[in-house]
Amino acid sequence: MKTFRSTNKDIPRVGRGTPGGEWLRRYWLAVGTEAELHDVPHAVRVLGEDLVLFRDGQGRLGFIGQSCSHRGSSLEYGDIEERGIRCPYHGWLYDVAGNCLEQPSEPLETAFCAKVKHPAYPVRSLGGLIFAYLGPDPANPPPLPNYSPLVDHGGQRLVESTRHFAYNWFNFYENSADPCHVWILHSRSAYGEQTWGGSFFSAKSPPAYEPVETPYGMKMVMSKPGRVEGTEFVDEMSLGLPSILQVGDTEFVHARVEPEVLEKVGSNYEHFMFLTPNDDDHFMLFTVDYYTGPDPDIFDRLGKMRKRENPKGDVKPYDKRPLMPFRGNIRQEDIVTQGTQRLLGERDERLGTSDRGIIMLRRMIRDAIDAVAAGKEPKALRLKENAEGLVKLDSFVGVRPRCQGS
Ligand code: FES
Ligand SMILES: [Fe+2]
Repeated sequence: MKTFRSTNKDIPRVGRGTPGGEWLRRYWLAVGTEAELHDVPHAVRVLGEDLVLFRDGQGRLGFIGQSCSHRGSSLEYGDIEERGIRCPYHGWLYDVAGNCLEQPSEPLETAFCAKVKHPAYPVRSLGGLIFAYLGPDPANPPPLPNYSPLVDHGGQRLVESTRHFAYNWFNFYENSADPCHVWILHSRSAYGEQTWGGSFFSAKSPPAYEPVETPYGMKMVMSKPGRVEGTEFVDEMSLGLPSILQVGDTEFVHARVEPEVLEKVGSNYEHFMFLTPNDDDHFMLFTVDYYTGPDPDIFDRLGKMRKRENPKGDVKPYDKRPLMPFRGNIRQEDIVTQGTQRLLGERDERLGTSDRGIIMLRRMIRDAIDAVAAGKEPKALRLKENAEGLVKLDSFVGVRPRCQGS
């Protein structure tokens, strides 16, 4: 039999039965936040499947098919009860495992209830985020990694509200393996003005950069010579498979901590982004920050600064482009450029040497997709914890002795 070999076209497709979708289904994916889950069912589309997230009257989390197994009404409008969720149409009651417990209009003696198995997925809560496993063996999922910002270790945590995007998840994800856009696209927003006293991400003299493969995925290492002989400024962005990003420089870029302070102690800040595709054209972004430095008001300050990062510049009266204005706000700049790309594999591209991070990432993901297709475990499914029991993505940001050979 011919061995399956994926292509770039397989990466952005997330549906069940597609090579990319089967790969993503091997991992725990973030599907909601504790703060946004109330005592009503919460409809979420994940990897092309319409589901409802809820917590039953006993406090158990459930993540089950949105369409009732009887005749398909949406359980988004169901009633939450002690033992599960009840469909509003004819009152079938399901528990968090998808067992049908009651069918009010069916004769009890037929045991019809026991024959109904409603779709249900394992779901766990960690540090304010809710994760689900949509993989092939729901009774034996891999361990949910103890991602560092989700586990208390003497710092402050900020879980942002879920953000929603109307384009393919991979356009957002691979952008973090592309450092050059930082000093071009973001030159008029925070990166241009603030980092390392305005000197690190300079378009005139950009940092050196190199992608490095890691056990969790890869990272982009950007560096410049430090002020002191034998040292270097380093700023790393990490990509943890399947769809996690870590940007370590939030203190420098958005919170404007003095560069001199950071030169001494490095970053105290983790900024994780968990991406979950809703379908091929939409994804959700769950952002969690964890800060272990001395500033008790860091998140307040950060929030105020982000609010001030509004797009700059007047829009001409005849300029009807829908995403104008966008320059001056990092998040909006990313949306304009990523959201206007077509799906990977369906757009024409001419990659250059500056795209080497992108090339490494796509190759790594194609290998992982091929591993799943061959019945093996993909890269980074089981991540090792450090001595404190935390799973870190090692995005170093700070000043350190210059690496030999660099
Ligand atoms: S459609 Fe849900 S109980 Fe009939
Ligand atoms: Fe960006």
